Amino acid sequence: MNQEASPPVVQADLSVSLGRLRLPNPVLVASGTFGYAREMAGLVDLARLGGIVPKTITRLPRPGNAPWRTIETAAGMLNSIGLDNDGVDAFIEHHLPYLASLGAPAIISVAGKDFEDFVFLAERLNGLPGVAALELNVSCPNVSGGVDFGTDPEMCRRVVQGVRKACSVPILAKLTPNVSRIADVAIAAEAGGADALTLINTCLGMAVDWRGRRSMLGNVMGGLSGPAIKPIALRCVHQCRQAVSIPIVGVGGIATIDDAMEFFITGATAIQVGTANFFRPTASIEIVGLAL
Ligand SMILES: Cc1cc2nc3c(=O)[nH]c(=O)nc-3n(C[C@H](O)[C@H](O)[C@H](O)COP(=O)(O)O)c2cc1C
Repeated sequence: MNQEASPPVVQADLSVSLGRLRLPNPVLVASGTFGYAREMAGLVDLARLGGIVPKTITRLPRPGNAPWRTIETAAGMLNSIGLDNDGVDAFIEHHLPYLASLGAPAIISVAGKDFEDFVFLAERLNGLPGVAALELNVSCPNVSGGVDFGTDPEMCRRVVQGVRKACSVPILAKLTPNVSRIADVAIAAEAGGADALTLINTCLGMAVDWRGRRSMLGNVMGGLSGPAIKPIALRCVHQCRQAVSIPIVGVGGIATIDDAMEFFITGATAIQVGTANFFRPTASIEIVGLAL
């Protein structure tokens, strides 16, 4: 056989490290846009993903916000789900065994209304089979009444540090863009002991039915996501890349390999696909395939 005519097949190693968390590749799916993975199993080869971040869970069940909860916008969507979930115990019983069986690392997203909630969740999940890492959702725009860990750097540092002491698994702190200086919050999360940052959660927005003279979302305001927020997410990755040395997971408007590459070039070590899962459920796997 003419060796020169057939170039060698390269087995690309796409694995990346987010601090102590090793991922088979840098393409993950974002919390709240992929259910608990079971819903997507018929559409996506889940084992090929770099990681799965299921819907955020809380200590106790939450019914979520009043409808409407999602609105399509010109270049994305608004949501105000309000962290609708059945609580950590139901998650451990019904969803975690399935996530543990998939072959892709599961990064469990948690949110608390106060410091004690976050620590409780970290202790409860620590060491359970299937928990590769925790993603601290200190950035949900759709819940009120709790402490705003994502906007006050010192509160952010304290909650990350509290979780750090309460568990041994790697921690990702997911930050909100709805602040004037995201780098300050990033520095605080790093100081608290975060292994990596996830940037960004949704941008606070609103849709109005002017004829009905009312806001279209039941919760009045909600989080904007999708292509509209990619420039904001890239800006946040850029600003935080200058400010911290821990790895960054970029998320916001990523639907194609070109979007993903823009984040890598800006300093992200890995990316998450969010809203694109709704209009092209195979988007994440297509990006993995094109990277190979
Ligand atoms: C319907 C919906 C639900 C979401 N729920 C969560 C959630 O429970 N926890 C969380 O951390 N982020 C949640 N997000 C935010 C996404 O994970 C992601 O950070 C954001 O949508 C930006 O990425 P994208 O533009 O690719 O969607 C949600 C987003 C959408 C659209």
